Amino acid sequence: MHILPTLAVIPPYVFSELERRKVAARAAGHSFLDLGIGSPDQPTPAPILEALRQAALDSPTNAYPPFRGSARLLKAATDFMSMRFGVELSPATETVVLAGSKEGIAEMLSALCGPGDVVLAPSLSYPVYVRAPLMHGAEVHMVPMDPARRWQLDLASIPADVLKRARVLIANYPNNPTGAVTTLADMAALVEFARAHNLVLMHDLAYSELTFDGHVAPSVFQVPGGRDVAVEFHSCSKTFNMAGMRVGFVVGRSDALDALLAYRSNVGYGVSMPIQHAAAYALDNVRALTVPIIAEYQTRRDALYEALQQGGWHATAPHAAMYAWLPLPDGVEPWDAVERLLVDAQVMMTPGLAFGAAGARYFRLSLVAPAADLRAAALRLVQVLGAVPAGAR
Ligand SMILES: Cc1ncc(COP(=O)(O)O)c(C=O)c1O
Repeated sequence: MHILPTLAVIPPYVFSELERRKVAARAAGHSFLDLGIGSPDQPTPAPILEALRQAALDSPTNAYPPFRGSARLLKAATDFMSMRFGVELSPATETVVLAGSKEGIAEMLSALCGPGDVVLAPSLSYPVYVRAPLMHGAEVHMVPMDPARRWQLDLASIPADVLKRARVLIANYPNNPTGAVTTLADMAALVEFARAHNLVLMHDLAYSELTFDGHVAPSVFQVPGGRDVAVEFHSCSKTFNMAGMRVGFVVGRSDALDALLAYRSNVGYGVSMPIQHAAAYALDNVRALTVPIIAEYQTRRDALYEALQQGGWHATAPHAAMYAWLPLPDGVEPWDAVERLLVDAQVMMTPGLAFGAAGARYFRLSLVAPAADLRAAALRLVQVLGAVPAGAR
């Protein structure tokens, strides 16, 4: 069978290989704690489910939803941006509802980039940043991130000939997989770079509310000039444990949002109305609903890092997101580590190369199990892997 040539040459998805290994391990009788994929294990808060139930009875499910999104959710999204970041945006022209930010990011990249164009993506990327452009025949240039620069993008390293063909710059803070956070000054540098080089800045703010130790994640629109260059992707998946409902939104540059809508109106319809209602309810009540969710992730993070410390791994706990990003000990190969942790430590992790070659000497654990289980898993893990490299994060 003939398939799209760009799809045929796309590198294998690391998460599919992990899935294959999990199935094989289970078939061989091994049980393990799955900290591989970052899918929330806690339930969706009951009031959100009640809002969904009510909306399922009240809202019209016979008709297609409006392309841009329901008036109620568009308003809830812009109210959230105002309450949380002090940014006033138009629900009519600067907001679009998404069936999850992953789809939205793919749709926008598909609408903006094709053969001859370059996407500037972080060297540690959530996979869709790289795969959507490749499927559309665009090139991807990985912009270095390293711990010495607090995992911020090294914009100065981008070669001039690449920059000439670049259309989009992607940033993601709080960051998956590193948990790194950013500052308004860092954001201002991204905005200025995008303005100077005529790029659409796509900021992925999927973890906006999952921050600890008093850190508050900024929006790109808090920076002067941000709204001239940027779009920002928001997600209900992690903030409210709603990943299964598939809902989020994008705000910012109306020309880029129009391109996304033009693309999507040719391939889909957006999000079902009851789910949009549930998301609006969640955003209207974000503060009350997220307090226990954030507290639980913080407890889990602390338990995991205390156990690592106890085992002699002096890793620094991240201030955001729901992951531990840890260095592989010297001499341990990524796929060997996956296998040894799975079989000997009964822990499934994600090798850092799932996020790009720059992640090859790291691995990621998701905080998707109760604190006691994470503590026990961390103690087993240090026993199996041995010493962490000196001075590594
Ligand atoms: C950085 C980042 N962006 C986007 C997403 C996708 O979120 P959604 O469920 O809204 O598609 C994830 C999910 O893990 C993520 O880590």
